Amino acid sequence: METVVSGIRPTGKLHIGNYFGAVANFLKMQYEYNCYFFIADIHSLTTHPTPADLHNSVRQVLAENIAVGLDIDKCTLFIQSDVPEIPELYTYLNMNAYKGELERAASFKEKVRSNPDNVNAGLLTYPVLMATDILIHKAHKVPVGKDQEQHLEMTRTFGNRFNRLYNVEYFPEAQAFSYSDKLVKVPGLTGVGKMSKSGGDADAIFLADDEAVNTKKIMRAKTDAGPTQPNQKKPDEVQNLFDLMKLVSAMDVIENFDSAYNNCSIRYGDMKKQLAYDMEVFLKPIREKIADALKNETVLAQAAKLGAEKARESASKTLKEVREIIGFRKFY
Ligand code: TYM
Repeated sequence: METVVSGIRPTGKLHIGNYFGAVANFLKMQYEYNCYFFIADIHSLTTHPTPADLHNSVRQVLAENIAVGLDIDKCTLFIQSDVPEIPELYTYLNMNAYKGELERAASFKEKVRSNPDNVNAGLLTYPVLMATDILIHKAHKVPVGKDQEQHLEMTRTFGNRFNRLYNVEYFPEAQAFSYSDKLVKVPGLTGVGKMSKSGGDADAIFLADDEAVNTKKIMRAKTDAGPTQPNQKKPDEVQNLFDLMKLVSAMDVIENFDSAYNNCSIRYGDMKKQLAYDMEVFLKPIREKIADALKNETVLAQAAKLGAEKARESASKTLKEVREIIGFRKFY
């Protein structure tokens, strides 16, 4: 059976970009592959969260993963910092990753631009840590959104380089994966780029937020003044609303708004109301399950413990073999 790895940074609550880009695939993959899903809390240290914020975010994302339907008996769901083998392998792989290639990573360049006062070494070597997460379980498939594609390419580079350096065929080549024909990119509500936490609070729809909060955000989403000619190309912010509808609305509903756009009779207010309604139909049961999961301390603790044990078993096997390959042999 092929092995699957994917992680989510605990930056607060999960948004629908995380859900449709990654988690929706996890839910199906857990029954078909040997899956390792984890909360990437070491990754999140690049932005220096307070200890309380870090802990609460990890707890939230753990509860959310369980609430949406990850079955801890079918997959391994763990917290990254529970697996000390990861930072050890990361150290070894860092010797083999070059400054130039790390500086060229799109995510690094974007972080340097948006946050020039916090260009730390962890940010530069972020793709090495991510490669470690994947290689430590010798994964074949990595379900992620489109934004992670380049990191997967770097993972293959680092794995292949290790294999060449030591003349072994050890690490497999991991491929980005989605059940849909393309990797998913869920747009944000502010009209620019993918939905993200860093896009500000108005950009993202969170799984755990109340109906009123989500509806208000959708009603305020950016649009234009409306089409002036039949069959005009949709500007990005309007296309984004259609793309969001495709995630939660019925086909005929979307087609009606599409026709209305094409014959210039569309009323964006009506479209947003419909989107908010369909979003709530989708989110309500999830939100209720998240609230329940957050109340159940014992379930969370048991899940984290079981996940840590299973993840360490796989990680320590790889690390032992890697130490052998590298030439760390015992003198005693
Ligand atoms: P992160 O925490 O930013 O996002 C978690 C997952 O959600 C996907 N995603 C999206 N998909 C579609 N549209 C969006 N707007 C959107 N926003 C987020 C991401 O593609 C991702 O799959 N570096 C990773 C975490 C990570 C990881 C790994 C992933 C660490 N180690 C190993 C896979 C394998 C990240 O920051 O994802």
